[in-house]
Amino acid sequence: MKTANPFASKVMEMAERETHGWKMMIGGKWVEARSSKRAVTFNPAYDQPLAEVPAANAEDVADAVAAAKAAFPAWSRLHVDERAKYLQRFADGIRAWAREFGMLDTLDSGNPLPAMIDDANKGAGLHDYFCGLGMEMKGRTIPTPGGGLNYTRQFPFGVVGRIIPFNHPISFAAGKIAPPLVAGNTVVLKPAEQTPLSAMLLGRLVEEHLPPGVVNIVVGDGPNCGAPLASHRDVRRVAFTGSVEVGRSILASAGIKPVSLELGGKNPLIVFPDVDIEKAAAAAVSGMNFTRSQGQSCGSNSRVFVHAKIHDAFMEAVLTLASKIKVSLPELENAQMGPVVTRRHYDRVMGYIESGRKEGASIALGGTHSAAAELKSGYFIDPTVFTGVKHGMTIEREEIFGPVMSVVQWTDEATMLEEVNDSEFGLCANIWTNDISTAMRFADDIECAYVWINGHGNKRFKGAPFGGMKSSGLGKEHSLDELLSFVQEKNVNVRY
Ligand code: NAI
Ligand code: MG
Repeated sequence: MKTANPFASKVMEMAERETHGWKMMIGGKWVEARSSKRAVTFNPAYDQPLAEVPAANAEDVADAVAAAKAAFPAWSRLHVDERAKYLQRFADGIRAWAREFGMLDTLDSGNPLPAMIDDANKGAGLHDYFCGLGMEMKGRTIPTPGGGLNYTRQFPFGVVGRIIPFNHPISFAAGKIAPPLVAGNTVVLKPAEQTPLSAMLLGRLVEEHLPPGVVNIVVGDGPNCGAPLASHRDVRRVAFTGSVEVGRSILASAGIKPVSLELGGKNPLIVFPDVDIEKAAAAAVSGMNFTRSQGQSCGSNSRVFVHAKIHDAFMEAVLTLASKIKVSLPELENAQMGPVVTRRHYDRVMGYIESGRKEGASIALGGTHSAAAELKSGYFIDPTVFTGVKHGMTIEREEIFGPVMSVVQWTDEATMLEEVNDSEFGLCANIWTNDISTAMRFADDIECAYVWINGHGNKRFKGAPFGGMKSSGLGKEHSLDELLSFVQEKNVNVRY
């Protein structure tokens, strides 16, 4: 294995050993796919195979669902405090291996190491948060005519299917199973086929800290493994994070069960002429997530609407900051920005950059493969900024999910708001102004569900409900709403 950090080889050896040669954790046991089929996951920094992992299909999914179903009665009957004790030990295990998980994600996804270590700790932190909320799964009493009691109680669904994307592998694998588990469900987790390794190592902590079958991990692609999981009859609740297209197909095929969807975004950052230009520019660059995930984050502010009066000064500040971002091998201890996730995705992002050029926007920065010799074979794209973007251009409309920012100039506030809202997406929005009335009015009128005034959607707070409007999704996460979305209410009448 090629690497610029010796710790990388050590972690790969350790993880391969701990997972018994990259097997899946189902019902407390390490297993191959029943078909014995394997798939290769790549290291995008070197365009080289990294590991061979199982390629699970519907049979393996059925095994995982059966294991989760068998584990459900005992797990759901535990008092929530007892479940929390298990999960806190599990979360401590994640923290103890945060560097190992971070390195695996860096090798598998190309995201920079410091951000991935942080991601592992974030995933563990969600267990702390949801365990703390456990006692809030309470019922209500309803007034009835004399001599009676009417009350409600909350019950878990049973088996939950959790399907996650490639961009924050361990953060999602670890964090997104917390609320269904605290609520008393058992889980079948399916990581993305581009980045399965950290979820597989998580299986080792599942083995050590949780009763068999409470968490099961299936590794495979979307059509063969994700689709049968979402539509399985014994899966009573599906939670999906990924693209709009796949979200739609899951809604169509899941059957009668609650489905929550965290989907894409084309998030505006709006700059009014009265702002501190340096601060607004810093937010635009930081919120674009060049340095956490090469822009591959649902919350990236990939559409910037800046008032014509300050456009030039704002752009100067943006370009100064963005051009300082260093693209490097992502496994370096101080890495800031790495490659995008796959060759296919690289071609897709480059295709968008080409379309921006063809449709008449100007490249103010980047737009090309990173120049350094050691980055030649990987999927590295320099931080890219387009100016002169007009509303309706492909790069302004579609989610690129890469390091590409599109800057649109505006003069008329009403027209700008119309353009901002003329989008399929409705995830995050960022409003930069010092005028409180303008800020509040825009926060009301903008069709996005997570709004920052003088900040950027990259900064999120536990407890603040996160989730999209319009095609950006259904349901809320990172808050009590998410925990309660994993229980169903039962109403009971008593006569006395
Ligand atoms: P994707 O939708 O292609 O894949 C996501 C997951 O779904 C993978 O595990 C994949 O194997 C699985 N999958 C694919 N086809 C399936 C099917 N027919 N049935 C069931 N599962 C299937 O998304 P990708 O490319 O991995 O991730 C990028 C997308 O995720 C972007 O659109 C991004 O905006 C979105 N995303 C949304 C977030 C949010 O919180 N709103 C957070 C992170 C990413
Ligand atoms: Mg990979």
